[in-house]
Amino acid sequence: MTVDEMSMSNKEPLLELKGVSKVFNKEGKDFLALENVDLSVEEGEFVCILGPTGCGKSVTLQIVAGLIEQTAGSVILDGKEEHGPGPHKGMVFQEYALLPWRNVLENVEIGLELKHVPRRERRSIAKEQLATVGLEGTEHQQVHEISVGMRQRVAIARALANKPKILLMDEPFEALDALTKEEMQIQILKVWEKTGTTILFVTHDVDEAIFLSDRICVMDINPGRLKKVLVNHLPRPRHDCMSRTDKEFNEMRDEIIALYSSLKDEELDLII
Ligand SMILES: Nc1ncnc2c1ncn2[C@@H]1O[C@H](COP(=O)(O)OP(=O)(O)O)[C@@H](O)[C@H]1O
Ligand SMILES: [Mg+2]
Repeated sequence: MTVDEMSMSNKEPLLELKGVSKVFNKEGKDFLALENVDLSVEEGEFVCILGPTGCGKSVTLQIVAGLIEQTAGSVILDGKEEHGPGPHKGMVFQEYALLPWRNVLENVEIGLELKHVPRRERRSIAKEQLATVGLEGTEHQQVHEISVGMRQRVAIARALANKPKILLMDEPFEALDALTKEEMQIQILKVWEKTGTTILFVTHDVDEAIFLSDRICVMDINPGRLKKVLVNHLPRPRHDCMSRTDKEFNEMRDEIIALYSSLKDEELDLII
């Protein structure tokens, strides 16, 4: 790996994983889910973790989020070693987990309530974040009244309302139909451009990783580990002008597929 691939600049990364491993106990035996992962994310960067199902993407993200503890290695965020969860790490999952008895605005306010932010300020922050994800005017709608794509946007607004240092997204658009998925990819790029939030985004969709990222951490399976970090030089902004049939786009896709040439078909369940 070259220095350029490890890190885009010389300044300290916002997030750093050093030698992170995870061993689970499966049916009485040790199972190595993650082996010695070194990974860094710069402030303001959009980094994708790409790999087939079971390679440890979610485990990596959950370790960063502090939801599970690594067996070895360390996670450093903004210069401090991390232990446990916190509002400075915003999570968005495939299942958006909104509370159905609350309206859109009240769902975005949840984290702020837990931090005892006064009501008026809460409302104002929640409204601002709904506007960031393009949902102005939906504040008083019920969760069941809005589309699945909109629900996922509410989940993003809720995570942003806490002003996280990093947004952690675990296959957030996988449950959506193809068209909505594409709309959401454009939406998240707009949110990222508008807010400057650092994003670590997990996916097993090769095109999604290429469309969104500054860098792609390509993972391997059995055991889960980092295979290669690719710098994505495709020009930005991408949402208006980039076609997935572009030559550069295809070259990047071919490079990624070649990295998986040693995998058996049943292991290669990437969306290509
Ligand atoms: N809590 C757990 N206990 C035991 N094994 C787990 C646990 N969580 C994940 N694993 C295993 O670790 C491996 C990586 O899982 P995961 O990170 O969910 O993969 P993915 O890349 O699909 O997100 C899988 O083999 C999975 O079965
Ligand atoms: Mg997963």
